[in-house]
Amino acid sequence: MKRNYLSPPPPPPAIRTAMAKVAEREVRKLPVFDFSSGNVGRLPAEFNLFTKLEIEVNRNLPESLAVIAEGLRKGIIESFYQSPKGLGYSTTGGTPQIKKLVLEYFRNIHGIPLSENDLNRVIVTAGGQQALAASLRSLKEGIDVLMPRWEYDAASGTTRTHGLREVRVDVKEDLSIDLSDVESKATQDSVFYISMPNNPTGYTSPSDLKSIIEIMIRKDGAVVWDAPYIFTVLRLNSKKAIYDESFLKEKLNEFRNISSKYHDYMCILSSLSKTCLIAGLRFGMALSCPEWIENMNTIVGRENLSSPTASFIIGAVILEEFLKKPITHTWTCKVLADRLTILIEELKEYLILPGNGVFGALYVLVRTPIDGDKFSTKILEEYGVVTVPGRAFYGEPINAVRLSLVAVPWIEGDEKWISNVKELKKALKSI
Ligand SMILES: Cc1ncc(COP(=O)(O)O)c(C=O)c1O
Repeated sequence: MKRNYLSPPPPPPAIRTAMAKVAEREVRKLPVFDFSSGNVGRLPAEFNLFTKLEIEVNRNLPESLAVIAEGLRKGIIESFYQSPKGLGYSTTGGTPQIKKLVLEYFRNIHGIPLSENDLNRVIVTAGGQQALAASLRSLKEGIDVLMPRWEYDAASGTTRTHGLREVRVDVKEDLSIDLSDVESKATQDSVFYISMPNNPTGYTSPSDLKSIIEIMIRKDGAVVWDAPYIFTVLRLNSKKAIYDESFLKEKLNEFRNISSKYHDYMCILSSLSKTCLIAGLRFGMALSCPEWIENMNTIVGRENLSSPTASFIIGAVILEEFLKKPITHTWTCKVLADRLTILIEELKEYLILPGNGVFGALYVLVRTPIDGDKFSTKILEEYGVVTVPGRAFYGEPINAVRLSLVAVPWIEGDEKWISNVKELKKALKSI
């Protein structure tokens, strides 16, 4: 298969290559005499920094949070007790043990036929954002990168600053992708970037994703599918958002059918940030063909000497728990549905919501009476309400702002959310 959109692989960073060899020999239990890197964090590796490290999981947590807490407990202990493994450098892109779990994730969740020998088809990154940047920066200079009119701003930023050509594709009134516009703008060897469920609109449509992939295949191109939110899919009607696990499973199945068929033409990005509520720990992942992954490894390895070792150790344990019991999203989904329902009740006339009855991700667009930048500044100064101007996602000025549904900590009755929404409503009505 020609992949003319990919940049030829740059030479790999020498220290990363040497560190990776150490990790590989250790896994294969071969003798290793390590002179590879300035890994001073390894010096105290045979000391016990702590004589005691006790952590107990709160028994009163909702079940899905208990799974995360148990993963954290085991992961913190593994990182620092008794040997302080978390202080040392570790290979960027992930050790073979961690990559095996990531292979299992892409096999189970995305239905991709992978064997243990496919370690060169996955990469572990310091968060999904690093995977996103590296995937786009792996493309050949001058390549057209198509993306929906509303899209995550980091994708646009990376595209514009790395010699790629950003091409926005129209979305319709109901936020669906205008497929005839995709057809007319896709050029030979171009690449489509899409976050789905979408940040910032919430738009989720496996059939649109499939159609986009099929168009890009006809152009010898590819699709970067940024999928950190696939476990946050809700049913939406004009009055409320509903979390229904069987509906979510149905959508996951539809997505799985697509990636199992078309993975050769995709770079799939994911993250534990949203699914396992560990955004600050930094654990992202990607799957693609070995050439694309090699480019990403080189880019990441040039910029980071090490993975965030403790984050990767803890993230791996949490991923393992998730793979055994994939329920870490359930509590979040209930909170999301309740919060979105409150917004619909209070601010329906201002919301820009998907028209196909499916909603995902953690954000909502709000139509503003004036330009989103001006509105955002004004309500910050006058009410202390913080929103993100829509321009960042739309690519040009627009009367809209993006709200996050999850920036406020949850408390019993979700009073903080309710009072935030009331304050926003006051601000909207005052202008
Ligand atoms: C669409 C999308 N991709 C990637 C990311 C990166 O998330 P993280 O780096 O925490 O995995 C985000 C974060 O909000 C996002 O919205």
